[in-house]
Amino acid sequence: MSEFRYDVTEINQIIGSFLPDVRGFQTTVQKAMNEAVRNGGKRVRPIIMYETCRMFAEACGEEKDSWISDIAPFMAAIEMIHSFSLVHDDLPCMDNDTLRRGMPTTWYTYGEAMGTLAGDGLMLEALYVTGRSAAESSNPARAGRAIEILGEKSGIRGMLGGQSVDVEMTGKPLDKEQLDFIYRLKTGALIEASFMIGAEIGGATVKEVEEMEKIGQNVGIAFQIRDDILDVTSTEEELGKPIGSDEKNQKTTYVTLYGIEQAEKEVERLSAEAEQLLEDLPGDHSALTELIRMLIGRRS
Ligand code: IPE
Ligand code: IPE
Ligand code: MG
Ligand code: MG
Ligand code: MG
Repeated sequence: MSEFRYDVTEINQIIGSFLPDVRGFQTTVQKAMNEAVRNGGKRVRPIIMYETCRMFAEACGEEKDSWISDIAPFMAAIEMIHSFSLVHDDLPCMDNDTLRRGMPTTWYTYGEAMGTLAGDGLMLEALYVTGRSAAESSNPARAGRAIEILGEKSGIRGMLGGQSVDVEMTGKPLDKEQLDFIYRLKTGALIEASFMIGAEIGGATVKEVEEMEKIGQNVGIAFQIRDDILDVTSTEEELGKPIGSDEKNQKTTYVTLYGIEQAEKEVERLSAEAEQLLEDLPGDHSALTELIRMLIGRRS
C-alpha cells in the first residue's frame, strides 16, 4: 500500500502568504494562529483543492497563470478553517488533548482563552482573505459561489454540525447511520468543500461540482475511518498527536463498531467508489486518483 507523499513546498508558500503579520497589541493571538497553521500538517485539503482546480482548468485549456491566483486564497482559507477545527477539537472541553502535529496544542501553550480566540481568529481570517479575493478576482461570481460552499461546509451544515453531534453523543452507543452522519459532517464536509471549490474555481459546471461533492463525501468518510484506525494502531511519534484519544473519550468509532479489519475494508470500498466516480469527469484524473490511493494507505 502506498503512503502519503506530496511535495508541499508551493502549497505551504501559498498558505503562509495569507497568514496575518505578528504585530500590534494583539501579537499573542496572531502568533498562536500562525503556529497552529504553520506547524506542519499534511495539507490534504489545500492539495485536493489545487489538484481539482488544475484538472478542470486544464481541461478548459487554461494555463496555471490564469487560475492559481484565484484558488490560492481558498487553499489558505480551507487550511485556516481546518486548523481552527483542530485547535478547538483539542480544547479541554472537547477532546482534551495536549499534542498536535508533533507540538503542544494551542490551548496547552497559550491557555484556554487564547486557544479559543486563536481558533475563532483563524475562522474569521478565512472570511477576510476570501472576501478580499472575491473583490479582486478575475471571476467574482465563481469566488462568491466558492465562499458560499466554504460557509455551508464549515458551519452547522458541515464540520461544526458534525462536531456538535460528536460531542453530544460521546459515551453513548451509536448505530451506523448516526456514525456516518457524524463522519460525513465533522470530517467529510471540509474534504467535500475542497473538491467542490477546486472545481468551481477551475470552471466546472453545476453538475460537475455536484459530482465532486459525492467524491468528497466518500473520500471524507474514508479519511475519518482511517483516522480512527490510526488512533488505535499508530504511534504518537508517527502521528504527531496522542494515540488512544478515542478510547480515553469513550467514542464510538468504526473500529469499536466493526473492528480494524472491517474498517480497513470500508476505507478501500469508499475510495474505490470515489475513483470510479472520477472516471466520468473531464480532464486528466491521474493526480487525484493517486491522492485518493495515497490516503487509503496513509500512516499519519
Ligand atoms: C485530522 O485531520 C482531523 C480529522 C479530520 C480526522 P488531518 O489528518 O488532515 O490533520 P493534519 O492537518 O494532517 O494535521
Ligand atoms: C475531529 O475528529 C474532526 C474535526 C473536525 C476536528 P478527531 O477528534 O478524531 O480528530 P483528531 O484525531 O483529534 O485529529
Ligand atoms: Mg474530536
Ligand atoms: Mg480529537
Ligand atoms: Mg481522531
